[in-house]
Amino acid sequence: MQKLKIRGGKALNGTVRISGAKNAALPIISASLLSAEPLALTNVPQLNDIGTMVKLLAQMGVSAERNGESLTLSAANIADKTAPYEMVKTMRASILVLGPLVARFGQAKVSLPGGCAIGARPVDLHIKGLEAMGATITIEAGYILASATKLKGARILMETVTVTGTENLMMAACLADGTTVLENAAREPEVVDLARCLIAMGAKISGHGTDKITIDGVDRLHGANYAVMPDRIETGTFLAAVAATGGDVTLTNAAPDTLDAVIDRLRDSGATITTTANTLRIIAAKRPASISLKTAPYPAFPTDMQAQIIALNCIASGTAVVTETIFENRFMHVQELVRLGAKIDIDGNTAIVHGVAKLTGASVMATDLRASACLVIAGLVAEGDTIIDRIYHLDRGYDHIEAKLTAIGAQIERVD
Ligand code: UD1
Repeated sequence: MQKLKIRGGKALNGTVRISGAKNAALPIISASLLSAEPLALTNVPQLNDIGTMVKLLAQMGVSAERNGESLTLSAANIADKTAPYEMVKTMRASILVLGPLVARFGQAKVSLPGGCAIGARPVDLHIKGLEAMGATITIEAGYILASATKLKGARILMETVTVTGTENLMMAACLADGTTVLENAAREPEVVDLARCLIAMGAKISGHGTDKITIDGVDRLHGANYAVMPDRIETGTFLAAVAATGGDVTLTNAAPDTLDAVIDRLRDSGATITTTANTLRIIAAKRPASISLKTAPYPAFPTDMQAQIIALNCIASGTAVVTETIFENRFMHVQELVRLGAKIDIDGNTAIVHGVAKLTGASVMATDLRASACLVIAGLVAEGDTIIDRIYHLDRGYDHIEAKLTAIGAQIERVD
């Protein structure tokens, strides 16, 4: 199994080009199922999760042509409307095929995702929403079996803010009869990006980016060309890395206006961050001040940046209080950070991080995608060598991370 070896203690300097957003590309790729005409995408990140989604669609009959960051999908002929357990268990976002399949073909068989490293993560709200639109849904042998002659528009109140739930229902509503209103909808930029792509395909959507999204169903969607938005979590991860190690780094092809909460907190840590419409420059000169935060749905601080900020807090001056409100089991990186010399107490869903003057390299294990990014940051600041095992998690969501970090002066290599 491959590992990452990092020799820490170097400041980061230079320029990094940010890739397209994984969490926008996944639903957008799935949206190709809604039309018989081709969807031509650009700025698609090169990630294992994207490969998994394309493979899942290909097995249904979608043809996919990939050329670097371009990806053209055609769902003209769909033979099989099944998302098998073997694929869904490796990537929960596979659930995003459910809404499009029921909406266009009136049937879908999608494995339940099951447990996951960062908590239970049920999909009950996806199911309830489709039922409200008239789908009949049963659970058999671990699979969601959904059917409908034609979905009908409905007013749906989601009791918890769910990102992929909002995306699934928004996609389904595009081909329903009549108007659907999604209340307490997710406001995440990736939901907005999906809505924009669907509108380019002929959908009638308004209110995306607010907590009330209105979709007027149309008979069919057509093909489109669409560029995926920049990845705000990759951007935030590089910002956190520089804030922790010190240095001067410019991030290009980014979307600073999707990162307000993260930028604000990093400025509190002492970093200087300046932005243009699509670049950010961070200058961090000295040991950061600790950052306290509470994760919550957008526009508040994203749960997908919690682990990276905990890494920074490990070597910050002062004590930070970090509360996770989205997922119930998302502090698995803490035990690994302790192996590097961090001082962290966990109290329920709160981590109290007592900053120490230095971390020392050791062998650690990545447990999920963002925990991996947290360990990379910790490795970059630790004295000596840090070896990170199970980096397949990292490859799911970070496009060419060693190359990008090496280009700004990190000593990082992949070893077998
Ligand atoms: C998405 C992101 C993930 C991010 C998360 C929260 C993708 C592919 N993944 O995950 O990176 O960490 O948003 O920003 O975009 N819930 C229910 N019932 C449901 C659905 C969700 O109770 O039917 C709960 C979950 O258990 C969780 C909360 O709602 O506590 C938010 O989860 P959700 O927004 O659905 O996360 P994902 O869409 O899976």
